[in-house]
Amino acid sequence: MRILGIESSCDESAVAYLEISRGRLLRLEHLVATQAIHAKYGGVVPEVAAREHSATLPLLLAGIAEKVTGKADGRLLGKRVDVVAATRGPGLVTSLKVGLDTGKTLAAAWNKKMIGVNHIEGHIYSNWLPGAALAGDLGGSGRGLFPALVLVVSGGHTELLLMKGHGRYRLLGATRDDAAGEAFDKSAKLMGLGYPGGPALSRLAADGDPAKYDLPRPMLRDPHDDFSFAGLKTAVRYFLRDNQERLTDPRFLADAAASIEQAIVDVLAAKTIRAAAANKVRTVLLAGGVAANRKLRARLRGDVAVRLPGVRFIEPPLKYCTDNAAMIAMAGYFQARMKKYGDWRTMDAEPQWELGRDL
Ligand code: KG4
Ligand code: ZN
Repeated sequence: MRILGIESSCDESAVAYLEISRGRLLRLEHLVATQAIHAKYGGVVPEVAAREHSATLPLLLAGIAEKVTGKADGRLLGKRVDVVAATRGPGLVTSLKVGLDTGKTLAAAWNKKMIGVNHIEGHIYSNWLPGAALAGDLGGSGRGLFPALVLVVSGGHTELLLMKGHGRYRLLGATRDDAAGEAFDKSAKLMGLGYPGGPALSRLAADGDPAKYDLPRPMLRDPHDDFSFAGLKTAVRYFLRDNQERLTDPRFLADAAASIEQAIVDVLAAKTIRAAAANKVRTVLLAGGVAANRKLRARLRGDVAVRLPGVRFIEPPLKYCTDNAAMIAMAGYFQARMKKYGDWRTMDAEPQWELGRDL
């Protein structure tokens, strides 16, 4: 099966080509363009993002056509594609529409099958991309893997999902306010690290003492699967205000970053281990942009090994953690295997689409 993947839910425009035959990956090409323009606004401006997607996606499509066929010729690419998979939601509606409408137009023009992919499901399937532990597991039913607990941590989502099989999810809990990525980004912004500051805060934290400052760990021990990070953000704001004169001291900044990161990682890890034990899962999967955080990866790897004997921990390759279209194509492949095709005539963007809820 040959799949064209398209992603445009937020501020990354991305296109990928995926070829899988008899459970073996034969080819993966992918291109992603991050919209640098939002840094100067300190956050994503939806209209600007949509215009950037309109300008960029055709260029990326031509680039993928050139990689796959040797020519930047969409007609030739169409002859090599069986299924068009485009992100349908969740995300910014104006951004989603550009990629989804591009996908619908190609499916109509080429007369191909179409799949509207859930962006979060895409993140989950980054665990099946090259470089991941499940990369060889493309043909079977995933026996031995499920039930799996998935921790989804991105800029807009923080969720614990029970994955009962391919494409089968139950939402156990989610954040009641800010997402984990927002906790990173908003703290980073308060520290003057720009946008999106999660990776910069994490780099700074590498040289700091994570036990230096005691910040709140919201809902750490609560007996449910929900999260809340707004209180941490407020605590960080007051903490930095009270230490304003030290904001130019590199030692202080490193210790503050490490302490913030530790508070976020403590909550994510504790709640994940609790939910994994309660649901007697075989596997713990990590997904979403914040999965690129090395501290979180190492902590979950260690905690699963020590506290959940016999449970396997799977983490996505670093290069596929943040938004990309390879993961959308891979999620599309598993949907297509189950013949869960959509109809481009009626398909619309679903900005609020929650995984586990049928449309
Ligand atoms: O999944 P993603 O690319 O976009 C959304 O779907 O939201 O996630 C982006 C989020 C941002 O909040 C970004 O700061 C965060 O992932 N992120 C990180 C790291 N890399 C990306 N947060 C902490 N540490 C990192 N290394
Ligand atoms: Zn994402």
